[in-house]
Amino acid sequence: MARDLESSSVLVTGASSGIGAATARAFARAGADVHAVGRRIERLDALALEHPSIRAHRVDVTDRAAVFALASEIDCDVAVANAGVMQLGSFLDMPWEDIERQMKVNFDGLVHTLQAFGRGMRERGDGVLVPVSSIVSIQAFPAYAAYCASKFAVRAVAEALTMELKGTGVSVVHVLPGATRTELHGHMDPAAIPEATRRRKRVPPEQVADAIVAAVRRPRATVLCDGPARMLYWGKRVAPGLVEAVVARATRGTRAGEPDT
Ligand SMILES: NC(=O)c1ccc[n+]([C@@H]2O[C@H](COP(=O)([O-])OP(=O)(O)OC[C@H]3O[C@@H](n4cnc5c(N)ncnc54)[C@H](OP(=O)(O)O)[C@@H]3O)[C@@H](O)[C@H]2O)c1
Repeated sequence: MARDLESSSVLVTGASSGIGAATARAFARAGADVHAVGRRIERLDALALEHPSIRAHRVDVTDRAAVFALASEIDCDVAVANAGVMQLGSFLDMPWEDIERQMKVNFDGLVHTLQAFGRGMRERGDGVLVPVSSIVSIQAFPAYAAYCASKFAVRAVAEALTMELKGTGVSVVHVLPGATRTELHGHMDPAAIPEATRRRKRVPPEQVADAIVAAVRRPRATVLCDGPARMLYWGKRVAPGLVEAVVARATRGTRAGEPDT
């Protein structure tokens, strides 16, 4: 049976821009009450002004106590753990702080969100947890080592949690977006971005948001949001060796973020 979004309360982390903002809007349009979470409260307040059913919450998802405090204030039927950051570059040269920050937001932050809101869902015997990873949780790329590591870890959680929650009434909808037009690359030194990444065709965040809303309405284990992501996903399942060889060939010579010597 389809989930009635009009009587649902939805949490979206990383809702101040990109996929999260589009997802918050899409759920609000579908009639849900939306709790929009992020650090840039002015962005979230502006989003809340667009729709009376959106409420803004300034919470840093890396702050476990703050995420749990929010969960004690609001019950959510759906939790979209979307907040994320990216830093590309040569793995051997990447400062530890950049690796740690990606793990803290993309993995720790997602863990805090799923645990804080998932426990209540399990108790009530109803809910949908929506971990957002990436298509690079399926296949690593040069310059993406730390980012991919954080997203591979999210995929592991999504797969295990799906099995753990079977029969509890709580579903897990794992979202693996492909290249999407957002601010994700805007926070890093452009020199660290490989040429192929810069040239990649990107889908609008609304396309990902609509796929998330549809998959929450009728829970589906895996959400792929565009053609290239679908190709990579299924290619890796059917012929992993071939995909790895194609990726290695296509990315040969990637020199992102290497120091000039
Ligand atoms: N864009 C792509 O091509 C792509 C592809 C695959 C997967 N993804 C994934 O999709 C998700 C959304 O990214 P996006 O592309 O929409 O990028 P974005 O526009 O940069 O949005 C990232 C969001 O995460 C929030 N965020 C970052 N650190 C946070 C923290 N410590 N606490 C709370 N919120 C935090 C940001 O809000 P504040 O700065 O206000 O906190 C922002 O709202 C990420 O998990 C990303 O890895 C993106």
